[in-house]
Order: sequence, then C-alpha cells, then structure tokens
Amino acid sequence: MEVKVKHGRIEKEATDALVLTHFEGETHLQPEAERVDKALGGWLRESLKSGEFSGASNQSALVHTRGKIPAKRVLLLGLGKRKDVKLDSLRQAMATATKRVRQAGGKAWATSSQGHAVPRTSATDIAQAMVEGAMLGGYQFKVYRSNDHDPPAPKLMTLVEEHAGALAEVREGIRRGRVTAEATSFVRDLCNHPANVMTPSRVAAEARKLGRKAGVKVQVLERKAIERLGMGALLGVARGSHEPPKFIILEHKGAGRNSKPTVLVGKTITFDSGGISLKPSENMEQMKADMTGGAEVLATVCAAARLKLPLHVIGILPATENMPGGRAIKPGDIVTTLSGKTVEIQNTDAEGRLILADGLAYATRYKPAAIIDIATLTGACVVALGQFAIGMLGNDDKVKARLVRSGQKTGERVWEMPLWDEYFEQLNSDVADMRNIGGRGGGMITAALFLSKFVGVYPWVHLDIASTDWSERERAYLPKGPTGIGTRLLIQYLIDEAERA
Ligand code: BES
Ligand code: MN
Ligand code: ZN
Repeated sequence: MEVKVKHGRIEKEATDALVLTHFEGETHLQPEAERVDKALGGWLRESLKSGEFSGASNQSALVHTRGKIPAKRVLLLGLGKRKDVKLDSLRQAMATATKRVRQAGGKAWATSSQGHAVPRTSATDIAQAMVEGAMLGGYQFKVYRSNDHDPPAPKLMTLVEEHAGALAEVREGIRRGRVTAEATSFVRDLCNHPANVMTPSRVAAEARKLGRKAGVKVQVLERKAIERLGMGALLGVARGSHEPPKFIILEHKGAGRNSKPTVLVGKTITFDSGGISLKPSENMEQMKADMTGGAEVLATVCAAARLKLPLHVIGILPATENMPGGRAIKPGDIVTTLSGKTVEIQNTDAEGRLILADGLAYATRYKPAAIIDIATLTGACVVALGQFAIGMLGNDDKVKARLVRSGQKTGERVWEMPLWDEYFEQLNSDVADMRNIGGRGGGMITAALFLSKFVGVYPWVHLDIASTDWSERERAYLPKGPTGIGTRLLIQYLIDEAERA
C-alpha cells in the first residue's frame, strides 16, 4: 500500500472511502466529521443519536455518499473513550479501516492525520502508528494458496493534513511507519513459511537479499567456521539435523568509527521438534516460528539502515533446526560453549539458551554498549504472562527502562521478571559448569539466568517472546498465527536511541 500526505480539507477528497473517527459516548462529532456531516445532510449525527454507532473501539459504520461529497463512501470508526485513547487505539482503528475498505472493494481511502486524537503526542508518532495499523491490518500470507478469491488490500492511503506546518512531521511518521510495518510483515512471512522451506540456509539467503537491499553488511559463517570458533553449543543442537547450521552476522554502521555498537541477538531455530526430548505432537507445527527472534533481529538491523539511523548496530542469528537423529545430542551429553564454559544437556528441548549462549559470547567480542537478545525461549513465559506481554529480564536498569518506554509507544509491551542470583542454584550440575534446565518453578527466570552467564560485563537485556509470537486469533492489526511482535519494539528502541544521540 502506498501512503501519502496531502495538504487540504478532508471533505474535498475524492476517494473510495473517507475514514472519520469518533470517541465513544460523545454526542458531538469531531470538527472534520461535523463538516462532512453537513454535506451529507446529517447522517452521521443520526447514526449516533439512534445508537447504531457508539464509537466503541473498532466499531465501524459505512455509508454511501451518493454524490453529496467527492468521496464515494464514508466510514465512521470508533476510537473508544477519549480518556482511554492511546496510540494503539489509532493503530487498531486504522487496521479495522483497511479491512472494511477491502471488504467494500475500495482501492483508495483517506483520513485526517488525527493531529489532536492523542494528547501530548507528536504528529510524527501519530502518523507512524496510523500507517503501522493500516499496513499491518492488511497483512495476508497467501504464498501457498492456489485458489484465493479475497478482495485485494487497498492500494493507497491518503493522510489529509489541514496545517501546512505539520506536513513535515506527518511525512516523517509515514516514513517510519512504512519501514516498521514492512519489517514486521517480513518477519511474519519468514515465520509463516513452513520449516521445510525456511531452513537455516534459506534464512541466510533471505538475510543476504534483504541486507543487499537495505545496505547492511551480511556475513554467514558455515559449519567449518563455526567449528573453528568452537561454538560447541550451537553445533550440539545442530547435530540431530540434516540441515547445516548457519551463524549470520549483520552490521549497520551508521555512526563513527569509535562508536560502541548495540548488538542484537535473535534465537533462530527454524524448527523445534524438541530433539531427543521430543515435544508432544499437538501444536508442534507452531514451532516453525521458533525463529521469530532471529527474523526480528534481521528485520530490525535492515530497518535501522533504511531509516539511516546514526547508530552502530550488529545483528547476530545463530540458526539451526532442533531435530532428533542418530547423531543428535542426548540428555546427559556435555558441550563446551564458545565462552569455554561447559553445559550438561539434561533436556534437548531447552535448545534456545544453548544457541544463544554462543551468540551472546560472540556478541561480547564487539565490546558493545548494550546487548539485547530476543527469543521464543520458554513455555514458562506463556504460563506467566499469557499473550499480551513480552518477558523482560536483564542486568541493566537503563536499557530496561528504555525498552519499557518503546514498548508503551509501540503497543508491544514488556513486563519485567526478577533476575536474582538465588535462582541459579537450580542450574547447578554435578558434572559440568551448569545444566541447561532449572527444574520446576521459575522457568523464564532460570532460562534468563543461564543466558546471563554468557554476556560478560556488558549491559544486557533478554526478551522472551514465547508469549506473543503466535496469536490464536485475528485481532485488529494482528493476524492469526505469527505476529512479528517485538520487531516494532526493537526498531522503536533504536529510533529513540538515535534521537538521544
Ligand atoms: N521454543 C520453545 C519454547 C516455546 C514454547 C515457544 C511455546 C513458544 C511457545 C523452547 O525451545 C522450549 O522448548 N522450551 C522448553 C524448556 C524446558 C525444556 C526447560 C519449555 O519451555 O518447555
Ligand atoms: Mn525447545
Ligand atoms: Zn525452542
């Protein structure tokens, strides 16, 4: 979908659908809607009065204008109560708008840039959220469907801005929104592709392709190089698979030579069968999305380059399948990680922390300003947080606070869990430096504590996205299936970081 900004008045816009917003329970219309309503002879006011339309979140009402204004239709959309309105209300409303316009067969739609909808929020942030909602609400994955008759998503969205002075800010919001929405869609695509297609080799190919387009340096270490480096944990997980592992490194160098990088590390398990500690078959197909963290890191580094952020950002993707096989690692096996620490593998299904151990140890070689890892790491995260919060644990309060803020802005919110050393006794091994599972209780915490032993002295935060990476049902801007949640969080973190720099 193309998005443009236009200076002018909404009621003059010739388009397939004019989208107007309304706050729940208010009897007066917003100024733009008031003007349109005059031209329409009071239909909008009528549907408020009759109670047909209240303005509740994501409620909509569509009417044909029959030549009374240049637009063919008017779509009224609810934002919920004014006192509860957030950026996410606009994101959701615009997603619902895209879907309604699509159902109606519309190709183009227009809406006001909603300058005053969310208090104390810049026109840039508002436009960004609107474009994100509109683009992500239209997301579909149809690569493998040969007989699909859904109407296509609209081709054009126009944001109409009355004040010439705000045009530049709106334009910047559109630019950011496009990049973050495309990055999220890219992640959803990678996670939707089945694991027989989206192998570690294919992820490496996708990284090369996207990296070339965005101007990001991409380096792929093959098995030989991984062996030479001594990444025994990644190699251990890869043993059961016929697909060769890849260690993918991305670099966006938007800052000076002496700048310390932010290093992002993403779990890239292209399929998690559990290995010898085989998972139950129910829902196992969802484990094709166990590479969400890696896809998000890839999309984020490329987004940073597209946005030309003046930052130094490194992305690291340890990529492999986790499969049972004659040569697979077994419970009781001991591997030596890149850091030199040894790990007794008591459960081959706790594979994410193993490949991340090598990814994080590699990250410390950059002497980073901060390391953030993102991973579909634990079922315990799903149990603790359900579907709406990302688990966050780490050793640096500043980075955590910044992620909380980016989470509020993007609607991809994080929730902190304790990373207390007391829990580490659960990871003690009788035969190695540690074991890879912590037993009953605090599964998200012991997984993060395991990771903490590989980050050296560097500021580090771990994000567990097992809770949010897959949606059981469709929502305004989330499809059923892979959500890509975490992508916008990471990109926003970097945008905000760049604005501080
Ligand atoms: N990829 C899974 C975690 C997961 C579970 C992600 C559900 C998304 C939805 C991870 O590799 C895993 O299997 N974790 C185990 C660890 C356990 C063996 C200590 C788990 O959480 O059951
Ligand atoms: Mn697993
Ligand atoms: Zn896994």
